[in-house]
Amino acid sequence: MNHTIAIVLAAGEGKRMKSNTPKILHKAAGKALSEWVVDAAAEATGQPPVLVIGKNADMVKNYFGERVRYAVQSEPLGSGHAVMAASEFLAEDGYVIVVAGDMPLIQSQTLIRLVQTADEQELSACLLTAIVEDATGYGRIIRGEDGGVTCIVEHRDATEEQKNVREINLSIYCFASALLREALASLQPNNTQGEYYLTDCIEYISAKGLRVETVSCGSPDEWMGVNDRVQLADAAKKLRRRINNQHLLSGVTMIDPDSTYIEASVIIEQDVTVYPGVTLEGDTVIEQGAVLYPGSRITNSTIGADTTVQNSVIIDSCVGQHSTIGPYAYLRPGSHVGSGCRVGDFVEVKNATIKDGAKVSHLTYIGDGEIGEKTNVGCGVVFVNYDGKKKSQTIVGKNAFIGCNVNLIAPVTVGDGAYIAAGSTVTKDVEEDALCVARSRQKVIEGWAKRRREE
Ligand code: UD1
Ligand code: MG
Repeated sequence: MNHTIAIVLAAGEGKRMKSNTPKILHKAAGKALSEWVVDAAAEATGQPPVLVIGKNADMVKNYFGERVRYAVQSEPLGSGHAVMAASEFLAEDGYVIVVAGDMPLIQSQTLIRLVQTADEQELSACLLTAIVEDATGYGRIIRGEDGGVTCIVEHRDATEEQKNVREINLSIYCFASALLREALASLQPNNTQGEYYLTDCIEYISAKGLRVETVSCGSPDEWMGVNDRVQLADAAKKLRRRINNQHLLSGVTMIDPDSTYIEASVIIEQDVTVYPGVTLEGDTVIEQGAVLYPGSRITNSTIGADTTVQNSVIIDSCVGQHSTIGPYAYLRPGSHVGSGCRVGDFVEVKNATIKDGAKVSHLTYIGDGEIGEKTNVGCGVVFVNYDGKKKSQTIVGKNAFIGCNVNLIAPVTVGDGAYIAAGSTVTKDVEEDALCVARSRQKVIEGWAKRRREE
């Protein structure tokens, strides 16, 4: 294929989003609206697209960094004006794809098909169109006697006869680069909005006697634009369904794909089962055979093979194989849970390592520390990691036994095989294989309660 670049138009204001965030940075299924477009364009052309940005340029640059090249349109004077802002990127040869940045469902294959058509037929311009029942608001495709496209007329500039045309411009074009430069130079804001319309480039090219062809865009989903948050929610739903279908086809079981929320970046291996109400975000990996029962949120984390997770929140953490997490566990950033572990109900872990085979079954806080292999932590244990000024570490060795309702006041170490009696508040290190009882002795006063009642 000829050398091709893509220009993504994203300088429109997006007022209908009613937001302080630029429209194109609103997220759908884990990626910004325009990121979907940028990724599709990068895949189709094999190089970083040019993003035309306007107001809020800093926020957009912050988001995309070096993944795209930038052109800044200082004032929103129309789609043609936006492309002019990117004219320094227009080469003397090759093709340029122009696509609006608010169509997150556009697929790279469609863009490739557009360029291939232009290339094979040696066209100067080629655009995506669709035939619709109600064309209100769209630019109409006007064809000449030979069937070629002569121009595009915007709805508000159209005559009654032109308004009857049901073939619409989808705002996705492929131009021969050199001709686009020439056509842009000819643009005039002669329309009801006083804008420089990119669509007028089609008329310029056609008027030169060069043929302009169309490619039809099959699925209406693909060209749906997002202008408000109703459309954002619709687009996100369709994107999620697309993501979920890919996982289903590659061997993941989902009990109800419509209520399973998986971002584009997530990797799921074969034979994983995902129940409803599970949200998987960011750089998350779910390994083979894991079962995610209802109601979990897992972000930037790895869940090992055959591990089960239920009603839990796991953030920036990793869990090994054959472990069980939850129900109602909270793994905060920096939690490393090994294989064959149990982290049970109402257990919170933060910046801590729980080694293979260790069990922390109920109502416990493990913050800043380590639990050795096969150690058992009873119910209601607290790693007292904060003295009001600084955080300190608690290190528990392997094969140890921490009784119920124990406070381990950090910094403190419990040796391998040691036992801590229930209810202890441990302030000094405990040697290996020792028993530590750190609580006051029990005192019983016989008949005390009966006497009190009789008073
Ligand atoms: C545009 C097309 C119309 C087509 C419709 C499909 C023109 C003149 N018309 O109309 O034929 O049917 O899309 O949705 O292009 N933009 C900028 N800077 C600007 C103005 C726009 O970057 O100054 C960007 C927008 O962010 C958007 C794209 O250009 O991504 C299209 O602009 P928009 O205002 O949405 O044009 P429409 O009126 O929808
Ligand atoms: Mg639009």
